[in-house]
Amino acid sequence: EKGGYDYFMLKEIAEQPKAVADTLLGRIDGSGRLTLDEVRIPDTVLREADKVVIIACGTAFHAGLIAKYAIEHWTRIPCEVELASEFRYRDPILGRRTLVIAISQSGETMDTLMALRHAREQGAKVLAVCNTNGSTIPRESDAVLYTHAGPEVAVASTKAFLTQLVACYLLALYLGQVRGTKWGDEIHAVVRELARIGDEVERVLETMEPVRALARSLADKNTVLFLGRHVGYPVALEGALKLKELAYMHAEGFAAGELKHGPIALIEEDLPVVVVVPSPRGRSVLHDKIVSNIQEIRARGARTIVIAEEGDEAVVPYADHLVRIPATPTLLQPLVATVPLQVFACELATARGNEVDQPRNLAKSVTVE
Ligand code: M6R
Repeated sequence: EKGGYDYFMLKEIAEQPKAVADTLLGRIDGSGRLTLDEVRIPDTVLREADKVVIIACGTAFHAGLIAKYAIEHWTRIPCEVELASEFRYRDPILGRRTLVIAISQSGETMDTLMALRHAREQGAKVLAVCNTNGSTIPRESDAVLYTHAGPEVAVASTKAFLTQLVACYLLALYLGQVRGTKWGDEIHAVVRELARIGDEVERVLETMEPVRALARSLADKNTVLFLGRHVGYPVALEGALKLKELAYMHAEGFAAGELKHGPIALIEEDLPVVVVVPSPRGRSVLHDKIVSNIQEIRARGARTIVIAEEGDEAVVPYADHLVRIPATPTLLQPLVATVPLQVFACELATARGNEVDQPRNLAKSVTVE
């Protein structure tokens, strides 16, 4: 059932182009409009929502952090993202005009379930983004948008994450459509790009051998840092989480803009630092700032592992290792930028002799608080 792969995780990484395509299937019509019939929350409620709150744990939380950028940009509705385990114990402010999105692969995560129950008790509408048909979280929500990743067996979440992103993008675009906000050329371009993104993920997968070799060469390191900005920041967090749970290495993700507020003190000779570089097109200010960050850390001895778009030449002089990803619209970049980080963590775990599919101390679904 591992389909010829050594681990479920490898199989699930390889399945991502299909998982992404399946999650899009039937949800965009020929004219580029979103048709999310499952979102049974009436349009009036969606139009009147004055706040979106996303609750999730672990990797699903990282998908939520990325969704915030898309939701706020495309809909102009304020969006908060919170760890489900923190959410309900701090007396959050919710009401009838709050739309809560609960993201969960398994649909059984206790912290997320408790948070959504709390939200519904306060009168908020809850929409689940979930991969498991008929599980508890969708059953207890007002509506559900299923991700069609297929069963995810490896404890480390990979294809579920990419499909959670796709579902959140669709939802953000749909909210924009229903509310008539920002429904212009940009959104059409994004919809067109989403339709091709499975092929782009496939292209990334085809070029992963150097990433595997690099991972093997780092097997005796103790620490790896990850930097990103904008949607690349949650990607950095996700890369670090994968490395912790699979390779049992100290790994941390930082917002690159925070470097000089503390983390740069960690940089020392030969420390591997993975940098997720925003597109040089679009938000080019951020691109230029991160190129300066790469220079700064390299001047202090870091070994820079740079993930940058094809055609981005500015990073070349400062990259000890360069990983190319296809050019995508800024907000969609996590769909391609996360893949090398998954492969990196999986290979490091293997090189360190760890059990890839079933890391120590972890369970696939966390059904206790
Ligand atoms: O099933 P869920 O999406 O609710 O699970 C949430 C987290 O437990 C999960 O993403 C966890 O962080 C993964 N092991 C990460 O790879």
